[in-house]
Amino acid sequence: METRLPQHVAIIMDGNGRWAKERNLPRLSGHAKGASSVREITTIARKTGIRALTLYAFSTKNWSRPDEEVNGLMKLLGKYIKSERETLLSNDIRFSTIGNIDLLPENLKTSIAELKAVSRECASMDFCIALNYGGRDEIIRAVKKITALCMTGEKKPEDINEDTFRSYLDISHLPPVDLIIRTSGELRLSDFLLWESSYSELYFSEKYWPEFDENEFNKALNSYAKRERRFGKTTEQIMEK
Ligand code: FPP
Repeated sequence: METRLPQHVAIIMDGNGRWAKERNLPRLSGHAKGASSVREITTIARKTGIRALTLYAFSTKNWSRPDEEVNGLMKLLGKYIKSERETLLSNDIRFSTIGNIDLLPENLKTSIAELKAVSRECASMDFCIALNYGGRDEIIRAVKKITALCMTGEKKPEDINEDTFRSYLDISHLPPVDLIIRTSGELRLSDFLLWESSYSELYFSEKYWPEFDENEFNKALNSYAKRERRFGKTTEQIMEK
């Protein structure tokens, strides 16, 4: 068990397509296998004592994929949300989303709303899925909310600071993201948690998401545990604490 555990872990689940291609399988088989990894990592995160887990499942740019893949992903997400209901509730896990879910299919929105409502009081862990999510889009939507309030006089521009700004972001209901993991060997954030990632630790795994298991997750947690987070301060200042 790690002594320094991240409170909030966020994951860019990449490599489902390549995993499938290497096995001559359709891309959707890669996503289906990826859903099994979601199940496994959520269970392990809960057992380990992680407070919040956020997974990047569908970006604002993913709509441009072939219709068959987009529709297949929507169906898979709907199936997952229904099938995991009991597991989440029995493990005291609260479900939430980030991203603009207005544009999702109606039946998926209904399942999401229902799972959010029944898990509202769960308090041992937060399980959050980023759906139709983009970091720039999240910031722009926050700016629009603040601008509207300033125009009616409910807020003053001088009252906006980093903390108040965060409260308008989709992620505001969760603790700060301590660790961002990206699988499949790609070294970029791809519009994920742009505001939130400013002081997050980053970890890149060579494994494709469908192969990402407990062992790989523990490697990321071990790497995090060894790091010194300075938040702009010096090592000496951190030690004084
Ligand atoms: C990126 O791999 C993955 C996605 C765009 C979808 C992630 C979705 C799942 C894992 C499905 C289940 C999710 C939940 C939350 C139940 P890619 O397709 O871009 O892979 P590639 O880069 O190898 O093509």
